[in-house]
Amino acid sequence: MTDERAARRIDPADIAAQLRFCGEIKELLEGRGPLLANIQTYGCQQNVADSQRLMGMLREMGFGFTGDPCEAAIIVINTCAIRENAEKKVFGVVGQLVHVKERNPDAVICLCGCMAQQETAAEKLRASYRHVDLVFGPQALWKFPELLHQVCTKRKRVFSIENERGSIAEGLPVVRESGVKAWVSIMYGCNNFCSYCIVPYVRGRERSRKPEDILAEIRRLAEEGFRDITLLGQNVNSYGKDLDEPMDFADLLSEIDKIPGDYRIRFMTSHPKDAGAKLFETMARCGHVAKQLHLPVQSGSSRVLKAMNRGYTREQYLEKVRQAREAMPDIVLTSDIIIGFPGETEAEAMETVSLVEEVGYDALFTFIYSPRPGTPAAKLPDPVSRAEKQVWFDKLLEAQNRISSQLHRGYVGRTVRVLVDGESGDSQWPLSSRTEGNRLVHLKGGRDLIGQYMDVRIIDSNTWALFGEISPE
Ligand code: SAH
Ligand code: SF4
Ligand code: F3S
Repeated sequence: MTDERAARRIDPADIAAQLRFCGEIKELLEGRGPLLANIQTYGCQQNVADSQRLMGMLREMGFGFTGDPCEAAIIVINTCAIRENAEKKVFGVVGQLVHVKERNPDAVICLCGCMAQQETAAEKLRASYRHVDLVFGPQALWKFPELLHQVCTKRKRVFSIENERGSIAEGLPVVRESGVKAWVSIMYGCNNFCSYCIVPYVRGRERSRKPEDILAEIRRLAEEGFRDITLLGQNVNSYGKDLDEPMDFADLLSEIDKIPGDYRIRFMTSHPKDAGAKLFETMARCGHVAKQLHLPVQSGSSRVLKAMNRGYTREQYLEKVRQAREAMPDIVLTSDIIIGFPGETEAEAMETVSLVEEVGYDALFTFIYSPRPGTPAAKLPDPVSRAEKQVWFDKLLEAQNRISSQLHRGYVGRTVRVLVDGESGDSQWPLSSRTEGNRLVHLKGGRDLIGQYMDVRIIDSNTWALFGEISPE
């Protein structure tokens, strides 16, 4: 393996230095009363996991947390750049913070995440959003205490948005919001360069954490009683390609599975081009691994898939689904779909609808294509109107809603094992829980059940969820 491929691992001494900066900030802010931070997270689970590390660092600085930016001494907006809408929303939120800053000029406003790493967005922040004090991209997350220290001591705006390949930082503190579910990043970045996607440009090159670090983290989580652990990576099937010792994702799953405890392992996302028999057989064999697979197809047209640079055809994808079902007949399958890729015709969009019907996914995440500046797809002619794309999109939703409600109806009368994972906010069905396949089941019962596995009888269903009754022992 060449050095070029090896991920830069942050020296533990540099992490220790960041913890010292946390201490210095704590001293600096001493006497200012109870310190609160407000963290707002957009985008995918990777961002949720990053925010939990930012919260870990803020806790070291003496901060508690609030949902109200007006009460906060520091506000962190962790952003997503995947579609234009996500960006618009963030600019709206950040614009509103002008008023917070007027009322409390000492408040420090930070913007981080994928938008920060996008040149055009960073320039806009620099020029037109002058109340934002600190801007840093995902590659600089581990340096947050040092950057914040610069803002506090030098009283100037700080931008840390160098476009790096990215690094791996171990040993940063984490605040996990629930004692039940945990996110564990196993790798960072993406090398796939799907032609529509911004992620490889803002998250740097693919790099894998060492297996021993991942295993130690999961062992700790299992000991602490976490029940539902999701391994994160843009394409977990590329795990290990950059490691000195040969280990692929299926090997990692087998190693994790040996860790004792009452927990389930899930993972996302699995790129279809690298998912295969070894992964499916490993999933089937490993008792801790949930029989659930998020396998984003994006399109059902082989021509569009090629233009998307996805690396598989419709037929190859369907063959992988067949293999997965052969290994795990009850597997719960979900997918992501993009409608309206530049140049996509109505017939091609309908090929996607027919693929969705053929596979019969349990659920879908569906998007209308959004051009991302700097990606190859953004340069392609895109003659179809938004209104027409919406019509295709609605047909897709209609098909999926039909399939989901049908599959959900099939659960009624069955008894399934669920993990109660939180409150739902609905007074009639106050608890939410998940089946092994991650299907949402609403339940009646008290908070004390959160974190427990229960057998429940499904008594009703709709397109999005199941409704269950706790079975008597
Ligand atoms: N790494 C994951 C996806 C991360 S982004 C994977 O490869 O599956 C999550 C989803 O957002 C993608 O699967 C895709 O469906 C959607 N997406 C990405 N870029 C998009 C764009 N420019 N417009 C619309 N949807 C997009
Ligand atoms: Fe984007 Fe493709 Fe990488 Fe997923 S695999 S993050 S869609 S480039
Ligand atoms: Fe968005 Fe970045 Fe995730 S662009 S989807 S937050 S990797």
